[in-house]
Amino acid sequence: MDNFKFHTSTEILFGKDQIQQLPEVIGRYGKNVLLSYGIGSIKKSGLYDQVKALLKDFNVIDLANIEPNPHISSVERGAALCRKHQINVILAVGGGSVIDCSKVVAAAALYEGKAWDLVLDRNLITKALPIVTILTLAGTGSEMNKSAVITNTETQMKTGTSNWPMMPQTSIIDPTYLFTLPAIQTAAGSADIFSHVLENYFKITPDAYVQDKIAEGLMQTVIKYAPIALKTSDDYSARANLAWASSLALNGLTASGKSGTWSVHPIEHELSAYYDLTHGIGLAILTPVWMRHILSEATVDKFVEYAVNVWHLPNTGDKYKVAHSGIDATEAFFKSLGIPSTLSAVGIDDSKFEIMAQRAVKLGSTQNSYVPLSVNDIVAILKASA
Ligand code: NZQ
Ligand code: ZN
Repeated sequence: MDNFKFHTSTEILFGKDQIQQLPEVIGRYGKNVLLSYGIGSIKKSGLYDQVKALLKDFNVIDLANIEPNPHISSVERGAALCRKHQINVILAVGGGSVIDCSKVVAAAALYEGKAWDLVLDRNLITKALPIVTILTLAGTGSEMNKSAVITNTETQMKTGTSNWPMMPQTSIIDPTYLFTLPAIQTAAGSADIFSHVLENYFKITPDAYVQDKIAEGLMQTVIKYAPIALKTSDDYSARANLAWASSLALNGLTASGKSGTWSVHPIEHELSAYYDLTHGIGLAILTPVWMRHILSEATVDKFVEYAVNVWHLPNTGDKYKVAHSGIDATEAFFKSLGIPSTLSAVGIDDSKFEIMAQRAVKLGSTQNSYVPLSVNDIVAILKASA
């Protein structure tokens, strides 16, 4: 196991009606609140009205219409509002896109230069306004981590930034807010949770047994509960388990002590950058293909471990057969969630494979991933996903 710093300072208020604590939580920071949210789901669900009523004694300024795969222009819009209204705290109500955008707004509000600088260079993020979140989509883990992924539509670049000041102070996770999710977002969010754990499971560092056992439990949680949430949208247990899995999947628990960069996320971010694809859908399409691409004598034992421990497949002794059955099970699972399994099914052709592969290597440092991925490797993965 490698050396690491593990630190998670976010206060989690988990469960039904935790929102009642909102005035006290927000009151810790001051009166001027930036309320950030997406295109319309929280108005439709009634959550917006509930938040407004609870914050009736505060000065609440809205940052509305944050788009999925949030744009840097929304960050700039938010930062300008923070400066104009002397905002004390940002309340992000939504999924990963709203929370990510709000994190960079919080940092950009206290930064003299352009917000995009903070995305390109995380070291410039030295301070940020406090951030409180109310989660409405289980998937990204943004509610309990210091990362944000932002798109610059001028350069079609989507990339992540990360630093401690952007850690949410408090996140309210009420699983009932997930009841209104469209099926495809439940599926995509579940694929995202699964992928976060998988990316950490398949890393170079050996003997991180604790992390891998936690990872296996989290993946099994998704395997058990995503189908239930899809079948019965208001199943509280399913939503609660998925929501907590989302937070634990990307708060450092399974990543700490394991070195190297991720493999599939950098490729997916290119699909979202160029085609505005829903993140979890891209991950589900690419993951089984990536697995088959890297299966070799060097990796086969890890794939056997994955097949046996995560999918409970019998270890027959034929390691490649077992490894393939684990990969097939992964693919079948994503399909069973109703996620398309090819790029053509989501309207993506091969015209940008080369440029996307080059960007993925550059932005994702995939030469340092579990099995190093070159531009040619990524083009091959994209072609096999077509
Ligand atoms: O915009 P609204 O109207 O709110 O609708 C959203 C959006 O259309 C809707 N939605 C959210 N909660 C809902 C709901 N609809 C009905 N009921 C609810 N309760 O769902 C749609 C997708 O929302 P979005 O926030 O975009 O999804 P997600 O949470 O999957 O976030 C995706 C973004 O997070 C980034 C992704 O790259 C992508 O940009 N990621 C962030 C990470 C992080 N911060 O650590 C890590 C991830 O790997 C990921 O890269
Ligand atoms: Zn992700």
